[in-house]
Amino acid sequence: MSRLALLLVASGCTAAPTLPHGASASACGSCHAPQRASFRLSAHARSTSSPVFQALLPRVEAAWGRAAREACVKCHAPDHGGDEVVTCVSCHAAVGNRGEKNGALVVDLDRPLASTKTRLQNDAHAVAPRGLLTSASLCGTCHEVHGPGLFDERTLSELRETDGEDACVPCHQVGGADGHRLAGVDPAWGAPRAERDDADARARALWAKGLALSVDFAGGGVRVTLTNQARHAVPTGVAMLREVWVDLEVRDVGGGLLRASRLFDLNATLEQDGAPVALITDATRVIPGALPPGASRSQTWARPAGAGGALELLVVVRARAVRRDVLEALELQASADEVTTHEVARQTLRLPAVQ
Ligand code: HEC
Ligand code: HEC
Ligand code: HEC
Ligand code: HEC
Ligand code: HEC
Repeated sequence: MSRLALLLVASGCTAAPTLPHGASASACGSCHAPQRASFRLSAHARSTSSPVFQALLPRVEAAWGRAAREACVKCHAPDHGGDEVVTCVSCHAAVGNRGEKNGALVVDLDRPLASTKTRLQNDAHAVAPRGLLTSASLCGTCHEVHGPGLFDERTLSELRETDGEDACVPCHQVGGADGHRLAGVDPAWGAPRAERDDADARARALWAKGLALSVDFAGGGVRVTLTNQARHAVPTGVAMLREVWVDLEVRDVGGGLLRASRLFDLNATLEQDGAPVALITDATRVIPGALPPGASRSQTWARPAGAGGALELLVVVRARAVRRDVLEALELQASADEVTTHEVARQTLRLPAVQ
């Protein structure tokens, strides 16, 4: 027995570590290969690799100071269990929080790992049922961000404005068939092509679940409506980076294009003393544009005077995880092709000729 172990025994501490095989994702993965494999594809496993995150850090420090930069890093790279990312023990060893916001999780590697099962035989490590694991509180402790600077993400409080289960997991598919993949909208930054395409397909499907498009006749024109079907704002989280918009194309019966334009969008407006800016670190004010949970936004398009013939309207909802102006301002042109413009929904409508 080593002198340290003797000392610990003498002082009444139990030297037996609860996680004898280590606390990193790869240590867990040596026994839980399927969970490790799907976790590796999740945004949590990449929580520091976003070039947008990396490029913002020095600007955050310049605009809001060193402590602000450290706050960004502390939540994105909490270093639970030795990994630089949000990792297995961030969720499975979380035992509570010091407030449901700003990443104030309490992670205790000496307590049994959280499971949903009430009975479990296992020689490898202790396991205990813990309601926190599947609660919105666990996710929301990191997904409710009040600062630093103008950073403001309120996914947890948005969820709690709605009726229904206090949980994120059912919609974001933790566990179950999709394993630990977690459906999200961010690109799989830096991943091989096939993995990025797969992430894109999932992002498109998630956007489509979040936004319902309807196009109805209204007077002589049409009314285009987007309705939020998620239980938080769309977009939520880093909404100031996102771009969600509705395009309208109007053609005559011969197919000739009469008009192509953006009808409206759900983008945040960032301003520095009244003038628009791309980056939150340059802004003095952020005006949210996201659609609150359950809400709809409509815009009516009126047939222009003189265009009395039959018309065909094409309405397309599009979304990008990161706005073009943000990528340009961060000089991330090299990463720009990793950010796909998704077609989320489309509808066509024929307007008969008017007398
Ligand atoms: C030496 C192998 C081994 C290592 C390393 C290991 N586990 Fe386990 N774990 C098991 C076994 C065996 C079980 C029993 C249930 C099973 O077969 O999944 C289990 C059960 C669990 C459960 C409960 C499963 C359920 O169905 O609810 C969770 C959660 C869990 N482990 C997480 C982890 C995490 C997180 C780590 C890393 C900190 C880890 N494990 C490391 C072997 C291991
Ligand atoms: C973002 C939080 C989170 C992270 C990170 C996470 N898990 Fe889980 N894990 C969960 C939740 C929630 C469940 C319960 C899913 C359910 O039953 O609905 C779960 C379930 C499990 C189970 C039970 C079997 C299953 O797949 O449902 C095992 C084993 C497990 N996780 C291991 C791991 C390992 C190993 C890692 C890291 C490679 C990891 N988890 C990372 C949240 C997380
Ligand atoms: C320890 C903090 C932490 C916890 C706990 C946590 N998350 Fe996250 N989550 C993050 C961070 C940081 C990111 C951003 C990663 C990145 O750079 O894309 C993220 C990203 C995500 C994304 C991807 C967003 C996108 O646009 O692609 C989803 C979805 C998500 N988390 C859901 C959950 C759910 C559901 C839970 C609870 C089961 C949870 N998170 C628990 C910190 C956390
Ligand atoms: C009713 C289903 C539902 C629930 C519950 C839900 N989400 Fe979502 N979430 C969605 C849909 C649909 C999207 C895609 C639309 C969008 O991007 O907002 C999404 C997107 C996201 C994103 C991507 C960022 C973005 O651009 O919006 C994050 C992060 C996220 N959810 C986190 C959470 C967290 C954390 C919780 C729990 C506090 C949660 N979600 C609860 C359905 C849900
Ligand atoms: C308390 C936790 C927390 C803090 C603090 C925090 N973030 Fe995040 N961040 C998140 C979560 C959760 C997400 C996922 C939300 C989403 O995708 O909409 C996220 C997503 C992001 C993304 C998008 C990731 C991608 O794939 O492109 C960027 C960029 C980002 N954060 C930058 C920052 C910067 C810069 C700071 C500091 C000013 C910061 N964050 C502070 C939790 C945090």
